[in-house]
Amino acid sequence: MKHLSSAEIRRTYLQFFEQRGHTIVPSSSLIPGNDPTLLFSNSGMVQFKDTFLGLEQRPYSRAVTAQKCMRVSGKHNDLEEVGPSPRHQTFFEMLGNFSFGDYFKREAISMAWDLLTKTFELPIERLWFTVFAGDDEWGLGPDEEAEQLWIAAGADPSRVLRFGRKDNFWVMGDTGPCGPCSEITVYLGDDLSKMTPDGVNSDDPDYVEIWNNVFMQFDRATMQPLPRPSVDTGMGLERMAMVLQGVKANYDTDVFTPIIQRTIALLGSDEAHYRANFAQYRAVADHSRAVAFLIADGVLPGNTGRSYVLRRILRRAAYQGRTIGFDKPFMADVIETVIEQMGDAYPDLQLRRQFILETTDVEERQFLRTLAGGITRLGGVINQVKATGSTVLPGEDAFTLKDTYGFPLDLTQKIAAEQGLEVDEPAYDRAMAEQRTRSRAATQFKRGAEAEVWSDFELPATEFLGYEHYAASGRVLALVSGGDAVSAANAGQPVQLVLDRTPFYAESGGRVGDTGVLVGRMGASTSPTRSAPSRA
Ligand code: ALA
Repeated sequence: MKHLSSAEIRRTYLQFFEQRGHTIVPSSSLIPGNDPTLLFSNSGMVQFKDTFLGLEQRPYSRAVTAQKCMRVSGKHNDLEEVGPSPRHQTFFEMLGNFSFGDYFKREAISMAWDLLTKTFELPIERLWFTVFAGDDEWGLGPDEEAEQLWIAAGADPSRVLRFGRKDNFWVMGDTGPCGPCSEITVYLGDDLSKMTPDGVNSDDPDYVEIWNNVFMQFDRATMQPLPRPSVDTGMGLERMAMVLQGVKANYDTDVFTPIIQRTIALLGSDEAHYRANFAQYRAVADHSRAVAFLIADGVLPGNTGRSYVLRRILRRAAYQGRTIGFDKPFMADVIETVIEQMGDAYPDLQLRRQFILETTDVEERQFLRTLAGGITRLGGVINQVKATGSTVLPGEDAFTLKDTYGFPLDLTQKIAAEQGLEVDEPAYDRAMAEQRTRSRAATQFKRGAEAEVWSDFELPATEFLGYEHYAASGRVLALVSGGDAVSAANAGQPVQLVLDRTPFYAESGGRVGDTGVLVGRMGASTSPTRSAPSRA
């Protein structure tokens, strides 16, 4: 087996397919340009979605990419896995080769076999191949063709396994191209005699799925064969690095070790401290990459949608850093290493280096101030609870801390526990749900590129003063520009904003909206006036 660095794996993959007629296409942005339903690019095929559907023509019929991807579930617990788990990541790279109505299963499988066994020289005796087992509902039999092609390539028939729709039939959604897929799993266990078929597609960490080859063959809406069957594949770069570097955690590959070493150096700690607190170090390493790439792709920290994901990840890393001993902002320093390491493959990181570092630093400093305010407030709540003799910290207070100070629940729980108190979590969840319902009712913006952003806002209803007043003072609660939340805007930049109170009637119910001027604390060059109300 070859021993390759992650940069060598990326290069080798791209060159292997380039030599076989594929055009090397740069990664698309983490922000999908053609799919408003998707928060982030989550696989290599996203930028080719319309090409597969025949809606867009490209000057090539074979492509190969290394694609930036983010998979962050909206669910709290998934993000919490990043750090404690040896393999969970938010940001990752997917290597993929694509055929748009060009080659199909035969060539895809033959090339996959050659790359794995001849170029990467993976031990054949550790490889497993899965194929589609068939489906009664769709009247599709097993994918015997793929099965036979793996065997013809050199796989032992006992290593080619059939799995059902859940594991081996890939659909993009309710419509669009779909088809059976074939996955390759590597056994990483120390003892080959313990390897069994039951390990494949199980939770056993000794079995790592490294590559998915999708044979797009049907139109999902009709389940009729596509006129031009295609191929879409995805290999996890960090997983491949784990295999080729002989380690059992993504975080022990060269993708992460320089970032972790930098964190150790900044902290002045050592390997033993890292091993004793690996979850925090790994969260910092993963999140630093995500933050650097998100900001490079134009996302700014904010309270909604993508901006909120960035804020949450950045703050989680800052908080984890504090728990291992950082008492000053450190994220920008760690991110310098990410840029050094990945800047050659992704030049945007270098081009936007200063902006990435400054944005990170400003957000981290703001979070640290928030944290300090929250700690003072929490101290007051704890004293009140103790004075009543209770050991339960009300969920409503924990929610207010989160809502007003951005103070994470797990931090409230940790500090409360130190004082012998427990947070009433069901009440916290109820307060959160009530807040959501209120803000959904208050958020009526549903137009254009902004619609998705506004629908995510959790804001109180705006107080309308227009029946009594032509002028009033209020606070800006949110600012959106170019389809995303922003914390500031430049002169001349069109923005939408939400105020806590306003004399402006918004366009609604057949009425035309008011027009006028908003003046900040610093004043304006012309005196504020409000045009005559233009209500229909
Ligand atoms: N699109 C396929 C996947 O994400 C390759 O697994």
